[in-house]
Amino acid sequence: MDRIVVTGNGQLNGQIPIAGAKNACLTLMPATLLSEEPLTLTNAPRLSDIATMSALLRSLGTEITSMQGGKVLAMSSHGIDNHKADYEIVRKMRASILVLGPMLAREGHAVVSLPGGCAIGARPVDLHLRAMEALGAEMDLRDGYVHATAKGGLKGGIVDFPIVSVGATENALLAAVLAKGTSVIRNAAREPEIVDLVHCLRRMGAQIEGEGTSEITIQGVDRLGGATHPVVADRIELGTYMLAPAICGGEVELLGGRMDLVGAFCEKLDAAGITVRESENGITVSRHNGRTQAVDVTTEPFPGFPTDLQAQMMALLCTAEGTSVLEEKIFENRFMHAPELQRMGASIDVHGGTARVTGVEKLKGAPVMATDLRASVSLILAGLAAEGETIVNRVYHLDRGYEHVEDKLSAVGAKIERIHEA
Ligand code: EPU
Repeated sequence: MDRIVVTGNGQLNGQIPIAGAKNACLTLMPATLLSEEPLTLTNAPRLSDIATMSALLRSLGTEITSMQGGKVLAMSSHGIDNHKADYEIVRKMRASILVLGPMLAREGHAVVSLPGGCAIGARPVDLHLRAMEALGAEMDLRDGYVHATAKGGLKGGIVDFPIVSVGATENALLAAVLAKGTSVIRNAAREPEIVDLVHCLRRMGAQIEGEGTSEITIQGVDRLGGATHPVVADRIELGTYMLAPAICGGEVELLGGRMDLVGAFCEKLDAAGITVRESENGITVSRHNGRTQAVDVTTEPFPGFPTDLQAQMMALLCTAEGTSVLEEKIFENRFMHAPELQRMGASIDVHGGTARVTGVEKLKGAPVMATDLRASVSLILAGLAAEGETIVNRVYHLDRGYEHVEDKLSAVGAKIERIHEA
């Protein structure tokens, strides 16, 4: 398994281009199952999770042509010739459950493996299943699979979520667009990835109102057509690289970055004493002198502070002046980076969903273990500002969500390299 070696090397200066969003692309791709006509995504990120979703869609009968080195994905689901999303693919990536809604909507039946737990928490799919039931589907759970049927097709209904779920909102949308009649999603997620999905579905001919608010109304249509859609910028990749100059000092422009994608996060950077401004080609972040200040952070659904930036923010706060309190409200087990950061000299106390981080002057390089995607990159960020060498082991998670991370960071002056292992 590959390792990444990072050596603290002072300030970072230059530009980093931001890719299309992994989590938007993973919900846009299954939309191909809704139409016989081609769906082409531009600005797609080159990531292993995207390859996994491609493999899943191909197993169902979708033809996918990858162009421009993977930046353009031309998909065609003329016919769906297999209705079973197999455990062997689904277990690799939870977002696989997103084929359930569109397959059910177009074909009236679907069999999808249950994804199982994952490192950051139990992550059930009950809300996805409830949404399908609210649209008239019958669900049967057996042999580790969801067997879903909607005889005569899905029907419009009220989908009322008890808690906000990004994936379940996406699945409900992907199903309701072809249901007969009107559907309303209450307590819908408001993430930019949902808004992007709605924009794409509208290009395909769907009738939807209210995206970006907590109530979305869908008027089902008989059929959807083809479309070409650019994937929205990745706000988590953006936030991650914004933290690089915040942690190391210097000035970096994030090309294609948009303030509206990272509002709550920018407020916290500002409170920590980091300068963030809109610039010609995106967002520029700088820190020139003085220590960062401690800030308290609570993760929430959008527009709150994203759970997917909590680990990286912790890397910044490890060397801030004072004590910061981080509260993780979305996933129950998302502080696995804390013991690894402690190996680098950080002072962190974790109790349940709360972590108290007392800043130290400097972290020290150490061998560490990456436990999930965002944890991996937080260890790289910490290593960039640490004294000496940090070796991040088990980096396969990283390739699920960050394209060319070594190249992007080297380009702004970081000392980082990948050691390939057979
Ligand atoms: N939940 C349920 N039942 C469900 C679905 C969710 O109880 O049926 C719970 C979850 O266990 C969690 C909360 O609801 O406690 C919110 O989970 P959500 O469904 O919103 O998360 P998700 O759709 O599975 C997406 C992203 C995650 C991101 C979360 C929260 C994708 C592919 N994944 O997951 O991204 O952390 O939303 O914003 O869009 C990552 O990229 O590193 C990542 C984990």
